[in-house]
Parts: sequence; structure tokens; C-alpha cells
Amino acid sequence: MRPRFIQLAERAKFDLIFIRDSAATRDGRIEVLSRWPQYMAYFEPTALLSAIAALTEHIGLVATLTTSYNEPYNVARRVASLDHISNGRAGWNVVTSSNVSEAFNFGRDQHIAHAERYERALEFVDVVKGLWDSWDDDAFVRDRATSRYFDPAKLHYLDHRGKHFRVRGPLNCARPPQGHPVLAQAGASETGKNFAAATAEIVFTPAQNLREAQSFYQDLKGRMPKFGRQPDELKIMPGLNPVVGRTEAEARDKHDYLQSLIHPDVGRELLSWDLGGIDLSDVPVDQELPYERIKGTLGSTSTLDRIVEMAKAEKMTVRDLYRRYGGARGQQTLVGDPKMIADHMEDWFLNHGVDGFLIQPSVSPAGFRDFVELVVPELQRRGVFRTEYEGRSLRENLGLARPASRYARAVSQPSDYAAE
Ligand SMILES: Cc1cc2nc3c(=O)[nH]c(=O)nc-3n(C[C@H](O)[C@H](O)[C@H](O)COP(=O)(O)O)c2cc1C
Repeated sequence: MRPRFIQLAERAKFDLIFIRDSAATRDGRIEVLSRWPQYMAYFEPTALLSAIAALTEHIGLVATLTTSYNEPYNVARRVASLDHISNGRAGWNVVTSSNVSEAFNFGRDQHIAHAERYERALEFVDVVKGLWDSWDDDAFVRDRATSRYFDPAKLHYLDHRGKHFRVRGPLNCARPPQGHPVLAQAGASETGKNFAAATAEIVFTPAQNLREAQSFYQDLKGRMPKFGRQPDELKIMPGLNPVVGRTEAEARDKHDYLQSLIHPDVGRELLSWDLGGIDLSDVPVDQELPYERIKGTLGSTSTLDRIVEMAKAEKMTVRDLYRRYGGARGQQTLVGDPKMIADHMEDWFLNHGVDGFLIQPSVSPAGFRDFVELVVPELQRRGVFRTEYEGRSLRENLGLARPASRYARAVSQPSDYAAE
């Protein structure tokens, strides 16, 4: 990812940049992967974003880290460090690993089952938040007069003992500037949505049309009170693949050209990947999917169901499907001139389908530059997008409150330091 690209996003006043991740290369037909190098060789997100933090001032920096093949202590420390390094701009995209091959790098022969992954994730997030509260905000007094660096009463041991983790703490990193860095998620299954309602502050789950977006919006926000949360504590931002032209005809030509560039072998592999690894290499692209081969997946059943439903409903051939689904990987694609794209975004935003969008053009940086130069000014003119950052932290810019420490409500004990 080039710094200039991120600086462009910051000049355009984007909330955040978001980096996906996996703890493995993708597996598949190596001949095909050599034509489709995405997620084969790339940097670890917290390391990359720490470097980017030094080149930016306002934009949020959201890193993906899996709860399935990490330990909470390491994640808490890495994300807290990023929050300090960036002066309160860090976020953590909590995933349970959609790449089943991650298992092979962590002493397992098979990916952890879906329900168990989410059970582990729930406990994982609780432990991470607890570790972030290890130190009170004002624990580091650095008082020369009493030769005291920190106040011992303001340090807390978590002493967590749960089904998946035993973690004593405390974290060897001061409380993050945001209290807790912002938590993002993209659950689409029932378990995933409950997890998001309980923990997430940003959700990236895709939606294909306004009705689907509204129903997801109401569903997810409606689940939050059960977990003691208010609906505005979570911002829903589904992915959007904008293909922008100065005219609609120009945008259509651009889109057709981009679609035509998907190599048929890559198209089949794209589908095979999300359909649980079934072999499609012998299937002619002008035929329908061999539905009888699809048995289920250890990855995401919600993703698999969505693809199969879409293909069956519209009797799509393999080529139709990889062009529609594969180009944007399940995110919605919008093709049009700046006004058409802005109309659509405004409609979804004003009609309670979304709180924002994750802009994911199928080509970068050109597709992103088109969006920034042509669509962002139109959204700003209509007053539905900021012209200046509102605050300093990612939380402030998203309008999310800073969480109090879990120890803040505990009866305060007289501190050794204060007593001196
Ligand atoms: C925009 C977006 C980004 C995602 N990024 C990652 C990622 O970086 N790593 C990963 O393992 N899964 C990623 N996922 C997959 C989700 O975490 C989730 O597993 C998927 O949406 C299916 O939901 P489910 O787990 O509830 O079945 C992403 C999903 C979306 C929509």
C-alpha cells in the first residue's frame, strides 16, 4: 500500500483505512494463484499501520487480527501500541479467520469449527478489553518530587480464568489514548451478528440492495439492547465498489473492460475459494455451477449460502457469477457518473440502510482516485460527508464515546502514592 494513496484518503477526510489479514497464504491451484496474487505476500497490518501512522495525522488505522490463531495478550499489546503510536487512531477488525489454511500454521490439521471460533472470540475480546484497562488513564504520574513513576494503586491485574484463556495481566502497555481502540467486525451468520451486536463498533458486512441493507441495519441494531448497548454505539458500513466515470457510458465501458480482464481460471478459483474449496477447474464457464458438489465449508456458511442463492435465483453461469461476485468479492458494485453514485449513497444513508461505506474499488489507486476526485466533492456539496475532521481520535471522528475503564466504577481504594 503506497503512502500517497493513504494521504489521498486523508486529504479526502475518510474516517479510516482498513487492512484485511490472514495468517497464511491462500491455498489452491498454484498455477491460478500465480495469476491472482492477492493475499499471497503482504505485510502484517499493525507493523504496516505503525509506519503509516508516522505519515498521517487524522485518518483512522484499522488492522485485522484473528482471534482464532492469536493470544489475547499479544493482540492487546499490538493494538494498544498502535493506538499510542498514532495518538488515538487505532482500530481492530476482529475476525475468526475466513482462510481455513491458517490452521496448518498453528499445529492443527483442520480449522476450528465456526461456533467454537465465535465462542473463543467472545472470550478473547473480553480479555483484550480487560487488559487495555490494566492501567488507569492517570496511572503514570512521573513525579520527580516523590521519585515515583507510576501510582501502584492505579495498576490492575486481570486474573482472567475462562474456558479458552488464563491471563493474569497486567498489560505492559499504558491504557490506550482512546481507552479502547475501536472494534470492527463483519459477521454475517447468526452467531457472527450476535457477536457484532455484543462487541463491534463498526460493521463491514456487505448488502446488495437498500432493502437488504435496511433489514440488516434494523436486525443488527435491534440485537444490541440485549447486550446492554445502544444502537448508535455501532456504525454499519458495508463495502461498496464504485466504478465512476465522467458520464454513465464512460463508467459502463470501464466496468465492462475490468470484468473482461478476469481470467476464466481465476474466476473459477475465486468461486471455488468461497464455495468451500470445491473443484471447478473442469466446469465450462458458460454452464451453471455444479450445485451437487457443494457440501458445506469450514469457512463461512453465510458467504457460501449468499453465493448459491444469488446464482440459483438468476440462473447464472459460472462466468456471470464470477464477474458479478468475484470482481467485488460480494460487495455491492455501483457503476455510474458521480451524481448517480452520490444519489445512491445518499439514499442508503438517509433511509437507515447504512451509517457509512467501506470504499473498495476493484482497482487501486486509479478507482479510488476517481471516487475521491469525482464523488467526494458531490457528497460534501450535499452536506452528507464532512469537509473537516471533527476530532482528533478515530472515536471522536466516528462519534463514538470513549469507554470508561472497568475499574473506574470500583470503590476507589486510597492509593499508596496519594497517601504519601
Ligand atoms: C469487508 C470485509 C472484510 C473482511 N476481512 C477479513 C479479514 O481480513 N480476515 C478474515 O479472516 N476475514 C475477513 N472477513 C470475513 C468476516 O470476518 C466474516 O467471517 C464473514 O463476513 C462471514 O461472517 P461469519 O463469520 O459470521 O460467517 C471480512 C469480511 C468483510 C465483509
